[in-house]
Amino acid sequence: MQINELYQGDALCLVQEIADESVDLIVCDGPYGVTQYEWDKIPDIQEYNLNLIRLFSRVLKPGGALYLFGKDDCIDFIDYRPYLTLNRKIVWYQPSRLAQGRMNYTNNYDLICYFTKGKAKTFNLDDIRVPQLVELEHRLRCERVPSVVNGQYGKTKFNENGKNPGDVWGDIKQLTYKSKELISRDLLNTIQKPEKLIERIVKASSNEGDLVLDPFAGVGTTFVVCQRLKRNFIGFEINPEYVELAKERMRRIVQEQEYRLFS
Ligand SMILES: C[S@@+](CC[C@H](N)C(=O)[O-])C[C@H]1O[C@@H](n2cnc3c(N)ncnc32)[C@H](O)[C@@H]1O
Repeated sequence: MQINELYQGDALCLVQEIADESVDLIVCDGPYGVTQYEWDKIPDIQEYNLNLIRLFSRVLKPGGALYLFGKDDCIDFIDYRPYLTLNRKIVWYQPSRLAQGRMNYTNNYDLICYFTKGKAKTFNLDDIRVPQLVELEHRLRCERVPSVVNGQYGKTKFNENGKNPGDVWGDIKQLTYKSKELISRDLLNTIQKPEKLIERIVKASSNEGDLVLDPFAGVGTTFVVCQRLKRNFIGFEINPEYVELAKERMRRIVQEQEYRLFS
């Protein structure tokens, strides 16, 4: 398979053409099993995800990472442990989501399951730090106070470059009708993800020149991010219309970069 190419077809078949242990990072933003799209009508999303994990873990390098997107129950009651290690369940919190529930608490987050094949080989914390909270700036001032320096809080150092983003990501907003990066209004909410969200994942779990696989590429967000961050990319997408939109977007970003390089 060619690098920096998007292939139209079923990811579960196309993955068979990828060599064992050849991919550094997999961004798996596929079916959630909750919408009325034909491709999202999955009778048992947990079994589907277990099969994904089984098939895609084969192509991951040892220490490589796989991020699986889904709803809060997307990996409940399945045993992924023979294939991958679950390091963290990340909550992508969207407070703006309409709270329509009447008989239950409305779900207002997506889950992003951060797996690795054994121990993570890459975690670039310094590339994904976020601003400290005000309280911690206060802590910085307090750190000059001898009782704090030498006391039980002494180990919590203030880092000028920001803090670990943690496992609740409320700082990255869903795209809206007004977002400049939105390719088409039809793609809001269920399809197109914000570049910032994918960027955090790609920065954290890959390095320049690494190979990133997106088996559910949609309209090519991961490609755009990889191109900017100098990662290599392979993508699969089943819907020919999305493939067209993604390829157009991919051409645009490559052209923009060439323009910047030569001007
Ligand atoms: C949530 S969207 C991904 C969007 C993408 N992250 C983006 O920002 O554009 C899921 C995508 O998976 C595609 N898809 C669903 N089942 C697939 C399969 N078996 N093989 C390949 N693509 C599939 C859908 O057509 C849809 O575009």
